[in-house]
Amino acid sequence: MRKEGNHNMKQKLEQIKAEAMEALGGVSASDALEQLRVKYLGKKGEITAILKQMGGLSAEERPVIGQLANQIRAEIEQAIAQQSKRLEAAALAARLELETVDVTIPGQTRKIGMKHPMYQVLDQIKDIFIGMGFEVVEDREVELAEYNFDKLNETEGHPAREWSDTFYFTEDSKILLRTQTSPMQIHVMERQKPPIRMVAPGRVYRKDEVDATHSPMFHQIEGMVIDKGITMADLKGTLSQVARQLYGEQTVTRFRPHHFPFTEPSCEMDIQCYKCHGAGCSTCKGEGWIELLGAGMVHPKVLEGCGIDSSVYSGWAFGFGLERLALAYFKISDLRLIFENDVRFLEQF
Ligand code: PHE
Repeated sequence: MRKEGNHNMKQKLEQIKAEAMEALGGVSASDALEQLRVKYLGKKGEITAILKQMGGLSAEERPVIGQLANQIRAEIEQAIAQQSKRLEAAALAARLELETVDVTIPGQTRKIGMKHPMYQVLDQIKDIFIGMGFEVVEDREVELAEYNFDKLNETEGHPAREWSDTFYFTEDSKILLRTQTSPMQIHVMERQKPPIRMVAPGRVYRKDEVDATHSPMFHQIEGMVIDKGITMADLKGTLSQVARQLYGEQTVTRFRPHHFPFTEPSCEMDIQCYKCHGAGCSTCKGEGWIELLGAGMVHPKVLEGCGIDSSVYSGWAFGFGLERLALAYFKISDLRLIFENDVRFLEQF
Protein backbone atom coordinates (compact mmCIF):
# COMPACT_ATOMS: atom_id res chain seq x y z
CA MET A 1 0.00 0.00 0.00
CA ARG A 2 2.74 2.35 1.03
CA LYS A 3 4.91 1.29 -1.82
CA GLU A 4 2.02 1.95 -4.10
CA GLY A 5 1.46 5.37 -2.57
CA ASN A 6 5.08 6.11 -3.28
CA HIS A 7 4.79 4.94 -6.82
CA ASN A 8 1.60 6.87 -7.36
CA MET A 9 3.10 10.07 -6.04
CA LYS A 10 6.13 9.70 -8.24
CA GLN A 11 3.89 9.17 -11.20
CA LYS A 12 1.72 12.08 -10.21
CA LEU A 13 4.76 14.36 -9.96
CA GLU A 14 6.07 13.29 -13.34
CA GLN A 15 2.64 13.87 -14.79
CA ILE A 16 2.46 17.35 -13.28
CA LYS A 17 5.87 18.11 -14.72
CA ALA A 18 4.89 16.87 -18.16
CA GLU A 19 1.64 18.85 -18.11
CA ALA A 20 3.32 21.98 -16.82
CA MET A 21 6.06 21.84 -19.46
CA GLU A 22 3.55 21.43 -22.21
CA ALA A 23 1.34 24.23 -20.94
CA LEU A 24 4.37 26.52 -20.54
CA GLY A 25 5.53 25.78 -24.06
CA GLY A 26 2.25 27.05 -25.46
CA VAL A 27 1.95 30.18 -23.36
CA SER A 28 2.06 33.47 -25.25
CA ALA A 29 1.09 36.12 -22.71
CA SER A 30 2.56 37.08 -19.37
CA ASP A 31 -0.73 36.93 -17.47
CA ALA A 32 -1.31 33.38 -18.74
CA LEU A 33 2.20 32.55 -17.55
CA GLU A 34 1.42 33.90 -14.11
CA GLN A 35 -1.74 31.80 -13.98
CA LEU A 36 0.35 28.69 -14.73
CA ARG A 37 2.82 29.59 -12.01
CA VAL A 38 0.00 29.81 -9.49
CA LYS A 39 -1.51 26.58 -10.79
CA TYR A 40 1.66 24.54 -10.34
CA LEU A 41 3.81 26.30 -7.78
CA GLY A 42 1.34 28.39 -5.77
CA LYS A 43 0.34 27.75 -2.16
CA LYS A 44 -2.74 25.96 -3.38
CA GLY A 45 -0.94 24.61 -6.39
CA GLU A 46 -0.52 21.03 -7.57
CA ILE A 47 2.97 20.45 -6.22
CA THR A 48 2.04 21.81 -2.83
CA ALA A 49 -0.92 19.44 -2.83
CA ILE A 50 1.45 16.51 -3.38
CA LEU A 51 3.79 17.68 -0.65
CA LYS A 52 0.86 17.88 1.76
CA GLN A 53 0.22 14.17 1.21
CA MET A 54 3.75 13.26 2.21
CA GLY A 55 2.68 12.77 5.83
CA GLY A 56 1.36 9.35 4.81
CA LEU A 57 4.76 8.20 3.55
CA SER A 58 7.39 6.21 5.42
CA ALA A 59 10.54 7.87 6.73
CA GLU A 60 12.60 6.40 3.85
CA GLU A 61 10.13 7.38 1.19
CA ARG A 62 9.63 10.93 2.35
CA PRO A 63 13.08 12.30 1.37
CA VAL A 64 12.95 10.55 -1.97
CA ILE A 65 9.59 12.06 -2.88
CA GLY A 66 10.57 15.34 -1.27
CA GLN A 67 13.70 15.52 -3.38
CA LEU A 68 11.80 14.67 -6.53
CA ALA A 69 9.13 17.28 -5.76
CA ASN A 70 11.78 19.92 -5.14
CA GLN A 71 13.60 19.00 -8.27
CA ILE A 72 10.43 19.19 -10.37
CA ARG A 73 9.48 22.47 -8.70
CA ALA A 74 12.90 23.85 -9.62
CA GLU A 75 12.57 22.66 -13.19
CA ILE A 76 9.15 24.26 -13.55
CA GLU A 77 10.46 27.49 -11.98
CA GLN A 78 13.31 27.55 -14.45
CA ALA A 79 10.96 26.93 -17.35
CA ILE A 80 8.72 29.75 -16.17
CA ALA A 81 11.70 32.10 -15.89
CA GLN A 82 12.87 31.18 -19.36
CA GLN A 83 9.44 31.63 -20.81
CA SER A 84 9.05 34.95 -19.03
CA LYS A 85 12.30 36.17 -20.59
CA ARG A 86 11.16 35.02 -24.00
CA LEU A 87 7.83 36.83 -23.62
CA GLU A 88 9.55 40.04 -22.53
CA ALA A 89 11.86 39.93 -25.53
CA ALA A 90 8.93 39.27 -27.84
CA ALA A 91 6.97 42.17 -26.31
CA LEU A 92 9.95 44.50 -26.78
CA ALA A 93 10.41 43.38 -30.37
CA ALA A 94 6.71 43.97 -31.03
CA ARG A 95 6.93 47.45 -29.52
CA LEU A 96 10.01 48.32 -31.55
CA GLU A 97 8.24 47.12 -34.64
CA LEU A 98 5.20 49.23 -33.79
CA GLU A 99 7.24 52.33 -33.11
CA THR A 100 9.44 52.07 -36.14
CA VAL A 101 9.71 55.41 -37.92
CA ASP A 102 9.56 55.10 -41.64
CA VAL A 103 11.80 57.91 -42.74
CA THR A 104 10.70 57.53 -46.32
CA ILE A 105 7.10 58.60 -45.61
CA PRO A 106 6.67 62.23 -46.75
CA GLY A 107 6.45 64.57 -43.74
CA GLN A 108 3.58 66.86 -42.90
CA THR A 109 4.64 70.25 -44.09
CA ARG A 110 4.12 72.86 -41.46
CA LYS A 111 3.02 76.28 -42.61
CA ILE A 112 5.71 78.77 -41.81
CA GLY A 113 5.12 82.46 -41.93
CA MET A 114 7.05 84.89 -44.07
CA LYS A 115 8.18 88.44 -43.82
CA HIS A 116 5.53 91.09 -44.36
CA PRO A 117 5.84 92.45 -47.92
CA MET A 118 6.61 95.92 -46.67
CA TYR A 119 9.45 94.64 -44.54
CA GLN A 120 10.75 92.71 -47.53
CA VAL A 121 11.05 96.03 -49.33
CA LEU A 122 12.63 97.59 -46.24
CA ASP A 123 15.24 94.81 -46.16
CA GLN A 124 16.07 95.50 -49.75
CA ILE A 125 16.43 99.23 -49.11
CA LYS A 126 18.60 98.59 -46.06
CA ASP A 127 20.80 96.27 -48.15
CA ILE A 128 21.25 98.94 -50.80
CA PHE A 129 22.31 101.54 -48.25
CA ILE A 130 24.49 99.14 -46.26
CA GLY A 131 26.22 98.36 -49.55
CA MET A 132 27.01 102.08 -49.84
CA GLY A 133 28.52 102.22 -46.37
CA PHE A 134 25.50 103.53 -44.48
CA GLU A 135 24.71 102.45 -40.92
CA VAL A 136 21.15 101.45 -39.94
CA VAL A 137 19.96 103.11 -36.72
CA GLU A 138 16.67 102.73 -34.88
CA ASP A 139 15.38 104.70 -31.96
CA ARG A 140 12.40 105.99 -29.97
CA GLU A 141 8.93 106.66 -31.34
CA VAL A 142 7.97 108.89 -28.40
CA GLU A 143 9.76 112.16 -28.96
CA LEU A 144 10.27 115.55 -27.43
CA ALA A 145 8.75 118.37 -29.50
CA GLU A 146 12.20 119.92 -29.24
CA TYR A 147 13.65 117.09 -31.38
CA ASN A 148 10.64 116.50 -33.59
CA PHE A 149 10.30 120.23 -34.41
CA ASP A 150 12.54 122.89 -32.81
CA LYS A 151 15.95 121.41 -33.53
CA LEU A 152 14.72 120.75 -37.07
CA ASN A 153 14.01 124.44 -37.48
CA GLU A 154 10.26 123.88 -37.33
CA THR A 155 9.52 126.71 -34.95
CA GLU A 156 6.33 127.59 -33.03
CA GLY A 157 3.47 128.27 -35.40
CA HIS A 158 4.53 125.65 -37.94
CA PRO A 159 1.35 123.94 -39.16
CA ALA A 160 2.73 120.42 -38.36
CA ARG A 161 2.74 121.41 -34.67
CA GLU A 162 -1.06 121.85 -34.56
CA TRP A 163 -3.01 119.69 -32.09
CA SER A 164 -5.17 118.61 -35.01
CA ASP A 165 -2.11 117.18 -36.79
CA THR A 166 -0.12 115.60 -33.99
CA PHE A 167 -0.53 113.10 -31.11
CA TYR A 168 0.63 114.91 -27.97
CA PHE A 169 0.95 113.19 -24.60
CA THR A 170 0.89 116.33 -22.51
CA GLU A 171 -1.14 119.57 -22.38
CA ASP A 172 2.02 121.62 -22.82
CA SER A 173 2.73 119.98 -26.22
CA LYS A 174 6.21 118.88 -25.18
CA ILE A 175 5.98 115.10 -25.66
CA LEU A 176 4.47 113.47 -28.71
CA LEU A 177 4.48 110.47 -31.01
CA ARG A 178 7.04 111.50 -33.62
CA THR A 179 5.45 112.81 -36.81
CA GLN A 180 8.53 112.07 -38.92
CA THR A 181 11.80 110.16 -38.65
CA SER A 182 13.76 113.42 -39.11
CA PRO A 183 14.48 113.78 -35.35
CA MET A 184 16.82 110.85 -35.94
CA GLN A 185 19.07 113.30 -37.80
CA ILE A 186 19.42 115.27 -34.57
CA HIS A 187 19.96 112.22 -32.33
CA VAL A 188 22.69 110.87 -34.58
CA MET A 189 24.44 114.23 -34.97
CA GLU A 190 24.33 114.75 -31.20
CA ARG A 191 25.99 111.47 -30.37
CA GLN A 192 28.29 110.97 -33.33
CA LYS A 193 30.92 113.13 -34.96
CA PRO A 194 31.07 113.39 -38.79
CA PRO A 195 31.61 111.65 -41.11
CA ILE A 196 28.07 110.29 -40.75
CA ARG A 197 26.21 108.01 -43.13
CA MET A 198 23.01 106.63 -41.69
CA VAL A 199 19.54 105.42 -42.51
CA ALA A 200 16.83 105.30 -39.82
CA PRO A 201 13.64 103.37 -40.59
CA GLY A 202 10.70 103.45 -38.19
CA ARG A 203 7.10 104.24 -37.39
CA VAL A 204 5.68 107.76 -37.41
CA TYR A 205 2.26 109.05 -36.36
CA ARG A 206 -0.09 111.72 -37.60
CA LYS A 207 -3.74 112.48 -36.95
CA ASP A 208 -4.87 111.26 -40.36
CA GLU A 209 -8.15 109.53 -41.10
CA VAL A 210 -7.72 106.04 -42.54
CA ASP A 211 -8.35 105.84 -46.28
CA ALA A 212 -6.77 104.19 -49.32
CA THR A 213 -3.66 106.37 -49.05
CA HIS A 214 -3.59 107.51 -45.38
CA SER A 215 -3.11 105.94 -41.97
CA PRO A 216 -2.47 107.54 -38.54
CA MET A 217 0.58 105.27 -38.26
CA PHE A 218 2.97 104.66 -41.09
CA HIS A 219 6.66 104.06 -41.70
CA GLN A 220 9.37 106.36 -42.95
CA ILE A 221 13.02 105.91 -43.72
CA GLU A 222 15.27 108.79 -42.92
CA GLY A 223 18.74 109.05 -44.36
CA MET A 224 21.60 111.44 -43.81
CA VAL A 225 25.19 112.02 -44.88
CA ILE A 226 27.45 114.57 -43.16
CA ASP A 227 31.07 115.08 -44.11
CA LYS A 228 33.48 117.63 -45.51
CA GLY A 229 32.71 118.79 -49.05
CA ILE A 230 29.30 117.09 -49.43
CA THR A 231 27.18 118.74 -52.10
CA MET A 232 23.80 118.46 -53.81
CA ALA A 233 25.58 116.38 -56.49
CA ASP A 234 26.17 113.66 -53.88
CA LEU A 235 22.50 113.76 -52.94
CA LYS A 236 21.37 113.42 -56.55
CA GLY A 237 23.92 110.78 -57.43
CA THR A 238 23.24 108.61 -54.38
CA LEU A 239 19.45 108.78 -54.49
CA SER A 240 19.35 108.18 -58.26
CA GLN A 241 21.52 105.11 -57.76
CA VAL A 242 19.21 103.85 -55.00
CA ALA A 243 16.22 104.31 -57.34
CA ARG A 244 18.00 102.36 -60.07
CA GLN A 245 18.81 99.54 -57.70
CA LEU A 246 15.21 99.40 -56.50
CA TYR A 247 13.37 99.87 -59.79
CA GLY A 248 15.92 98.77 -62.39
CA GLU A 249 18.87 100.24 -64.30
CA GLN A 250 16.65 102.14 -66.73
CA THR A 251 14.99 104.18 -64.00
CA VAL A 252 14.95 107.93 -64.71
CA THR A 253 14.83 110.36 -61.77
CA ARG A 254 13.98 114.03 -61.57
CA PHE A 255 14.46 116.54 -58.78
CA ARG A 256 11.96 119.35 -58.17
CA PRO A 257 12.49 122.30 -55.82
CA HIS A 258 10.51 122.04 -52.60
CA HIS A 259 10.56 123.36 -49.05
CA PHE A 260 11.42 121.71 -45.76
CA PRO A 261 12.40 123.84 -42.75
CA PHE A 262 15.44 121.65 -41.96
CA THR A 263 16.99 121.51 -45.42
CA GLU A 264 18.18 124.30 -47.70
CA PRO A 265 17.89 123.97 -50.60
CA SER A 266 15.15 121.32 -50.50
CA CYS A 267 13.77 119.11 -53.23
CA GLU A 268 11.52 116.20 -54.01
CA MET A 269 12.65 113.30 -56.12
CA ASP A 270 10.34 111.64 -58.63
CA ILE A 271 10.95 108.58 -60.75
CA GLN A 272 9.61 108.30 -64.25
CA CYS A 273 6.62 105.97 -64.15
CA TYR A 274 7.92 102.40 -64.49
CA LYS A 275 4.68 101.36 -66.11
CA CYS A 276 4.13 103.93 -68.88
CA HIS A 277 7.68 105.37 -69.02
CA GLY A 278 6.41 108.93 -68.83
CA ALA A 279 3.43 108.72 -71.17
CA GLY A 280 0.89 108.92 -68.33
CA CYS A 281 -1.22 106.05 -67.02
CA SER A 282 -3.34 105.03 -64.04
CA THR A 283 -0.31 104.14 -61.90
CA CYS A 284 1.13 107.67 -62.15
CA LYS A 285 -2.33 109.26 -62.36
CA GLY A 286 -1.53 110.62 -65.80
CA GLU A 287 1.55 112.47 -64.55
CA GLY A 288 4.24 110.28 -66.11
CA TRP A 289 6.17 110.66 -62.83
CA ILE A 290 5.84 109.17 -59.36
CA GLU A 291 6.89 111.17 -56.31
CA LEU A 292 9.27 109.14 -54.16
CA LEU A 293 10.87 111.24 -51.46
CA GLY A 294 11.72 114.57 -49.90
CA ALA A 295 15.34 115.61 -49.50
CA GLY A 296 17.74 118.53 -49.28
CA MET A 297 21.00 119.89 -47.96
CA VAL A 298 20.94 119.88 -44.14
CA HIS A 299 20.24 123.45 -43.00
CA PRO A 300 23.30 125.16 -41.45
CA LYS A 301 21.14 126.12 -38.47
CA VAL A 302 20.38 122.45 -37.84
CA LEU A 303 24.08 121.50 -38.08
CA GLU A 304 25.11 124.32 -35.71
CA GLY A 305 22.35 123.34 -33.26
CA CYS A 306 24.01 119.93 -32.99
CA GLY A 307 27.47 121.40 -32.48
CA ILE A 308 28.68 120.75 -36.03
CA ASP A 309 30.63 123.57 -37.65
CA SER A 310 28.69 124.39 -40.83
CA SER A 311 31.71 126.17 -42.34
CA VAL A 312 33.62 122.86 -42.26
CA TYR A 313 30.91 120.25 -42.71
CA SER A 314 27.91 119.94 -44.96
CA GLY A 315 25.48 117.16 -45.68
CA TRP A 316 22.23 116.02 -47.17
CA ALA A 317 19.19 114.20 -45.85
CA PHE A 318 16.15 112.49 -47.23
CA GLY A 319 12.95 110.91 -45.98
CA PHE A 320 10.30 108.79 -47.59
CA GLY A 321 7.21 106.82 -46.77
CA LEU A 322 7.76 103.09 -46.81
CA GLU A 323 4.11 102.05 -47.32
CA ARG A 324 3.73 104.09 -50.47
CA LEU A 325 6.95 102.69 -51.82
CA ALA A 326 5.78 99.12 -51.05
CA LEU A 327 2.39 99.83 -52.65
CA ALA A 328 4.09 100.98 -55.81
CA TYR A 329 6.64 98.20 -55.68
CA PHE A 330 4.06 95.41 -55.40
CA LYS A 331 1.38 97.31 -57.36
CA ILE A 332 -1.02 97.24 -54.41
CA SER A 333 -3.86 99.73 -54.72
CA ASP A 334 -4.97 100.24 -51.10
CA LEU A 335 -2.77 101.20 -48.13
CA ARG A 336 -5.16 99.49 -45.69
CA LEU A 337 -4.17 96.08 -47.04
CA ILE A 338 -0.68 96.64 -45.65
CA PHE A 339 -2.01 96.85 -42.06
CA GLU A 340 -5.03 94.54 -42.07
CA ASN A 341 -2.79 91.46 -41.89
CA ASP A 342 -5.20 89.32 -43.83
CA VAL A 343 -3.19 86.17 -44.48
CA ARG A 344 -4.94 85.61 -47.81
CA PHE A 345 -3.49 88.93 -48.95
CA LEU A 346 -0.06 88.58 -47.35
CA GLU A 347 0.50 85.08 -48.73
CA GLN A 348 0.65 86.44 -52.24
CA PHE A 349 4.11 87.94 -51.79
N1 PHE B 1 10.62 114.57 -42.80
C1 PHE B 1 10.12 114.95 -44.11
C2 PHE B 1 8.65 114.53 -44.23
O1 PHE B 1 8.16 113.84 -43.37
C3 PHE B 1 10.92 114.32 -45.23
C4 PHE B 1 12.33 114.83 -45.32
C5 PHE B 1 13.36 114.21 -44.62
C6 PHE B 1 12.67 115.89 -46.13
C7 PHE B 1 14.66 114.63 -44.74
C8 PHE B 1 13.93 116.35 -46.25
C9 PHE B 1 14.96 115.71 -45.56
O2 PHE B 1 7.97 114.92 -45.16
